[in-house]
Amino acid sequence: MFFKKSAFGLDISDYSIEVISLSGSLENPRLLAMGRIILEPGIIKDGEILNEEKLTSSLKNLIKNPKFGKIKTRKFIFSIPESRTFIYILEFPKDLKKKEELEFVKSQVKQTFPYSLKDLYLDFKIFTPLDNKHLTGQDKEVLLIAAPKNIVDGYLEIFKSCQLQPLVLEVESESLARSLIKDQKETVLIVDIGARTSNFSIFDEKGLRISISNKTAGNKFTQSLAERLKISLKEAEKLKRKFGLNPEIEEGKFFLVLQKDIQLGIVWGIRKIEKYFQKKTGKKIEKIILAGGSAMLPYIQEYLAKNLEKEIVIGNPWAKINTKILKKKGHSKRLDGVKSIFYATCIGSTLRGLTKNPKKAGINLIKGRK
Ligand SMILES: Nc1ncnc2c1ncn2[C@@H]1O[C@H](COP(=O)(O)OP(=O)(O)OP(=O)(O)O)[C@@H](O)[C@H]1O
Ligand SMILES: [Mg+2]
Repeated sequence: MFFKKSAFGLDISDYSIEVISLSGSLENPRLLAMGRIILEPGIIKDGEILNEEKLTSSLKNLIKNPKFGKIKTRKFIFSIPESRTFIYILEFPKDLKKKEELEFVKSQVKQTFPYSLKDLYLDFKIFTPLDNKHLTGQDKEVLLIAAPKNIVDGYLEIFKSCQLQPLVLEVESESLARSLIKDQKETVLIVDIGARTSNFSIFDEKGLRISISNKTAGNKFTQSLAERLKISLKEAEKLKRKFGLNPEIEEGKFFLVLQKDIQLGIVWGIRKIEKYFQKKTGKKIEKIILAGGSAMLPYIQEYLAKNLEKEIVIGNPWAKINTKILKKKGHSKRLDGVKSIFYATCIGSTLRGLTKNPKKAGINLIKGRK
């Protein structure tokens, strides 16, 4: 009962932890609390926890003293990056009975995943033929998501020592979609360009349909600038954020380096996923939403719009949230567009916490766990 009044969500990456708490309903969520801390390098690397003690104390600290407001519940929603999971779309055989579905999914996992079943958390969602006009006959499609236990368990241990109780574990793109997509009938591609990974996920009226990742993201942009211009990584990071893809600065010096990565990693990633999706469903992407810290690269929106001839927007995670309380208390600065995008995943997972039964409101990798 208590949980219904407020919900909170956590987003943990190598670099930072964000926390958000909301109250009210999914239709009218109100901000209760928000906070963010930057983690010392070496606490988490590539999603793997290297220093449990420091992560535990950082997390405890953040929950206890968010930048704004108070966190009043211990139950929360957690999401992990796509790059740490396996996502597959399978087709059920025509004559498969309802009670055989789970067995079929398990047999497919055994064949396709590089892990045995006991080492995975997994969940799946079935699209019935009615949802999929492109499917012929009685075929049913299944979205299957799995994550290795050894990685997830590392986080679950930390939560336990912080007396936190995760209700749901979902993939980041589903959280992002919940905060960034306004019209669920549209076919939207979310491009989340982080530090290590860029993730491309397509959503339509039925939710997540396909997801791919590559390693061309913010770290790579900085590295390319440092190598090609023979400057330090620190300097490169600074110049990247300042000039980005502005073609007019120093005769296009920064533009020329960055555009190569953007072409090979981002533009190519978008074209690849769209081609695949179109072939499978006959549908086109109507809109592209940029997310992740590297969505703040100056001129990236303009560059992609020109190259892809599509509507490109930078995600606004506050679009659905009532933030009056921040304004009232003189905290409006915190909603500043520049830093907001870091909260997008976290806001999305918290929104799931406001649904009637968060555990069942979509894919939940820890559904069966006590
Ligand atoms: N103003 C800016 N302009 C360009 N890039 C920026 C800016 N601010 C932050 N970044 C980049 O954003 C990246 C961090 O983004 P984000 O926090 O989304 O990554 P992450 O979720 O920690 O990483 P990943 O998803 O790859 O594990 C860094 O590479 C950083 O250089
Ligand atoms: Mg990320």
